[in-house]
Amino acid sequence: MCGIIGVTGRPDALQLLLQGLERLEYRGYDSAGVVLAEGQGLWRVRAAGGTQSVAQLRKLTEGAPAAAAGIGHTRWATHGRPSEANAHPHVDCSGQLALVHNGIVENVDELRREVLAAGHELRSETDSELVAHLLEDALAGPAAGDLPAAVRQVLAQLRGTLALVVVHAATPELLVAARRVSPLVLGRARSGAALVASDVPALLGEAEETWVLDDDQLAVLRPGACEVQDARSGRPVAPRRLEVAWTLEEAQKGGYPDFMSKEIAQQPEALADTLVGRLHPVEGIGLDEVRIPEEELRRVDKVAVVACGSSYHAGLVAKLAIEHWARLPVEVEVASEFRYRDPVLDERTLVVGISQSGESVDTLQAVRHGRDNGARALVVCNVVDSSLAREADGVLYTRAGPEVCVAATKTHVAQLAALELLALHLAQLRGTLAPKRAGQLFEALAALPDLVAQAVERGPAVAAVAETLLGARDVFYLGRHVGYPVAMEGALKLKELAYVRAEAYPAGELKHGPIALVEPGTVVVAVATRQPLWEKLMANLAEVRARGARVVALASDGDERTAEHADEVLWVPPTEPLFSPLVDVVPLQQLAYEVARRSGRDVDRPRNLAKTVTVE
Ligand code: BG6
Repeated sequence: MCGIIGVTGRPDALQLLLQGLERLEYRGYDSAGVVLAEGQGLWRVRAAGGTQSVAQLRKLTEGAPAAAAGIGHTRWATHGRPSEANAHPHVDCSGQLALVHNGIVENVDELRREVLAAGHELRSETDSELVAHLLEDALAGPAAGDLPAAVRQVLAQLRGTLALVVVHAATPELLVAARRVSPLVLGRARSGAALVASDVPALLGEAEETWVLDDDQLAVLRPGACEVQDARSGRPVAPRRLEVAWTLEEAQKGGYPDFMSKEIAQQPEALADTLVGRLHPVEGIGLDEVRIPEEELRRVDKVAVVACGSSYHAGLVAKLAIEHWARLPVEVEVASEFRYRDPVLDERTLVVGISQSGESVDTLQAVRHGRDNGARALVVCNVVDSSLAREADGVLYTRAGPEVCVAATKTHVAQLAALELLALHLAQLRGTLAPKRAGQLFEALAALPDLVAQAVERGPAVAAVAETLLGARDVFYLGRHVGYPVAMEGALKLKELAYVRAEAYPAGELKHGPIALVEPGTVVVAVATRQPLWEKLMANLAEVRARGARVVALASDGDERTAEHADEVLWVPPTEPLFSPLVDVVPLQQLAYEVARRSGRDVDRPRNLAKTVTVE
């Protein structure tokens, strides 16, 4: 997720670009750049200064030439590490065309081969730069002198998600923008300037009128004019007006009351982005960055998963998936314990470090310990080029974009998706998964973003149930098999957000002691969607209800039998049992959020917690 912006028709275009980038930093910040179209050509400056990238860019542009048009970008890396060379805007070989891009080009390998074969010189590792060279070829061919036509032509070659803004030195006042899934909004300013940006915050206070660019639409911006057309036919279309009455902070929250609810709502997108280009039952998932040779992965005879917090719970799901499909023994350990128990490791062990930040020292030390003892290290991480990513032998990046909230939500769901892909990949390498079954599972994976979206939309039903938990001083979360890690994550969310004592137990364990705590008024939240041990879980619910507990059950849509064993039901769309954590976790996130809000808690910044713990 990146922030892009374009301005034309303003003598102070640079100031508007920089202000817009500062307002879009919540979308990514590992590098930033601008291009100004000032009549004599394009003037470009970029900075890769981490969280200070836009500030550095402001300094670097102090001597910039006057220009009435330009484009800007603040990056959250997905392809290619954070660096000045990978920072946008990217240019073509002539340096006459520049573009900024937010999204993921799925057919990146095919296009890279095509661009290199056409004799272009690549100066970055990014997928976005390829688009600049494709546009250069289009302008040298049938779309000569027609930038909108060139953009339409290249869009037809791209698969994946994109929001693009393109400028050419020959037509310095003209910007062409295009959208497919990644957001773009348009604005017309009082002064007559035309603006385009990833999100509303960049337009606030500048645009008198605002519109949304819809999928497969193209916008042609000139000073005082903004024409929208169908990206295939080029036929003009009426843009969808956007009424904005937000403050800047409200706009950065996308109209949500807080970042927590916004990031819960972003989970379908984070999941879809993490799956883009990886759902290939044949070619495999394609590990990012430094790769681990497939024959080495085939030789692996044990997996050791190390992680903290929500990432640890994702690891517990990975264990079930890898053992079931790849038939590989998996041990999962909280990272802070792993290296102190003198684990048995060798060159056939694969240590999997899971960390959204890539900076948790416990996980970093655990992965180092694994590598120091001969194991190969694969990391599932959300931050390109983070400490963990740099130290691993292989990286599988999640693409959830920056997560502002301390409590993990969208990065957790994205981790689950990446780990399911890893399990299927290992199974295919080891020949333990029949191709037909693999195809079914990849289809089920592809359907998950929509199921998660359905779960997110059911938030109001969860809010109604939250009243049940209000005032509860301790809550049991029960699950079995794949439902148990979900119960653990649900309990952690209630602790983190609402400061309520919540314990997760494998439901079969209750009778060995914990059930002594159950009394009238005890609240039990049960992950009772359909999975292998559902029948036994029903018996466990009967045990706690018989002792006066109030049961809130997650149940698969239409499953009336589960509803008979619960006082309240949260309905969840069904999926493959081992994929169910990606959907089942959503109502538990929402439940914790609703209880926390009703309890007056700061859901974005819970007390005592840090987003990343860089101490042991
Ligand atoms: C904690 C966060 O500090 O670290 C959790 O509050 C997170 O949300 C845990 O799950 C692990 O962080 P990471 O970055 O290693 O996944």
